[in-house]
Amino acid sequence: NEGALWGGRFAGGPSPELEALSRSTHFDWRLTPYDLAGSRAHADVLRDAELLTEADHAELLRGLRVLGERYAAGDLVPGPGDEDVHGALERLLLEEVGRDVGGRLRAGRSRNDQVATLFKAFLRDHARVLSGQVLDLVEALRAQAEEHLGAIMPGRTHLQHAQPVLLSHHLLAHAWPLLRDVDRLRDWDARVAAESPYGSGALAGTSLGLDPEAVAEQLGFTGSSANSIDGTAARDFVAEFAFVTAMVGVDVSRIAEEVILWATKEFGFVTLHDSWSTGSSIMPQKKNPDIAELARGKAGRLVGNLTGLMATLKALPLAYNRDLQEDKEPVFDSVDTLEVLLPAFTGMVATLRFETDRMAELAPQGFSLATDVAEWLVREGVPFRVAHEVAGGCVRRCEELGVELHELTDADLSGISEHLTPAVRDVLTAEGSVASRDSRGGTAPDRVREQLTELAEAVVGH
Ligand code: ARG
Repeated sequence: NEGALWGGRFAGGPSPELEALSRSTHFDWRLTPYDLAGSRAHADVLRDAELLTEADHAELLRGLRVLGERYAAGDLVPGPGDEDVHGALERLLLEEVGRDVGGRLRAGRSRNDQVATLFKAFLRDHARVLSGQVLDLVEALRAQAEEHLGAIMPGRTHLQHAQPVLLSHHLLAHAWPLLRDVDRLRDWDARVAAESPYGSGALAGTSLGLDPEAVAEQLGFTGSSANSIDGTAARDFVAEFAFVTAMVGVDVSRIAEEVILWATKEFGFVTLHDSWSTGSSIMPQKKNPDIAELARGKAGRLVGNLTGLMATLKALPLAYNRDLQEDKEPVFDSVDTLEVLLPAFTGMVATLRFETDRMAELAPQGFSLATDVAEWLVREGVPFRVAHEVAGGCVRRCEELGVELHELTDADLSGISEHLTPAVRDVLTAEGSVASRDSRGGTAPDRVREQLTELAEAVVGH
């Protein structure tokens, strides 16, 4: 095998079975542009170390440029005998510039430091793409929140009616976690940028006097690995990236679950746009929230990718082990999954129609104003433990009578407690309840309006 990266000490070529197992070109070929960029930077430091003549350097760059153009045009493909993207590109480069010049490029580097660097560069690019897509979803939530300021819905804990809240407040509660995910990607990026592994060699560094800082800078990193063993063996950057993608998936799945529930006949809180929902092949009336269901399902897959990767890394001895080749497919899958999911999900959210009358009707039901009664009593000077008991007594009386809190008569109220004067009725509306919760971050319209501004400003900062 003319293209193999090793062979000197082997009497025969690899068995076909080994080749089939070993091959990774079907998934790592997408690292080609990053591999070529690494090779350009490496050629530069070889020349700077006087290990390449200017002429050979120029010829190598020409060859690398041709490969890049062929890749961009879609006519650069790995061969059946190529093990991985690194080996394939070396073979193709040798074919382009000849074995003498081409054979000089591998000095002082290993696929171990190459792959660690390229994978970082690839993930950094996709972290930017994903951040933009997550911010689009944040914006869709923010726009819906702004449009529906004033709409009141049942706020829930344990999925039971708890206290009325503004729909906007609820929607923004989905936006903040997503914004933190974008923060996580940014923090991750700064950490990853600080350590370019190129120059670590197989594990121990190189004797050739190459400048890893120069390679790092050329590849857009801010520094190079402090420890060459760590540089080639560490994959916490992959695991952390996989965690953030899983977290995005989980955050999105929580919105998805609510959309699915809200779109049921029983809730009737939202209507899905025709272009962002699906029908049934047999039931003509059906309108299904497939985007939300796929989001919920894919969250499991994203969590699985993270978990599988962690299992691969557990107890792996230093430094590079071939097990590490298993780091790429799960995370490529997480990237591909989210990059397809997020635009569809954002479209669904942006086009949701909220049935605000239905929400408003249900908001005060289920005795969700009981806390308002208790807090009104506290403002009247009643100790909270007593107030809680009294408000609970109101709920019990309502259940006996089959009415809601605001339907209790003056006689009912005074029969429950001497503290319950008719003035308590002032707080027995969803509007009054919502307006009274004016603590920072609370559901009062003024506070939610402030929050909208705060979120908009936070988005601009990203
Ligand atoms: N394709 C390998 C990977 O993705 C890199 C090659 C390292 N192979 C080796 N025998 N040292 O991890």
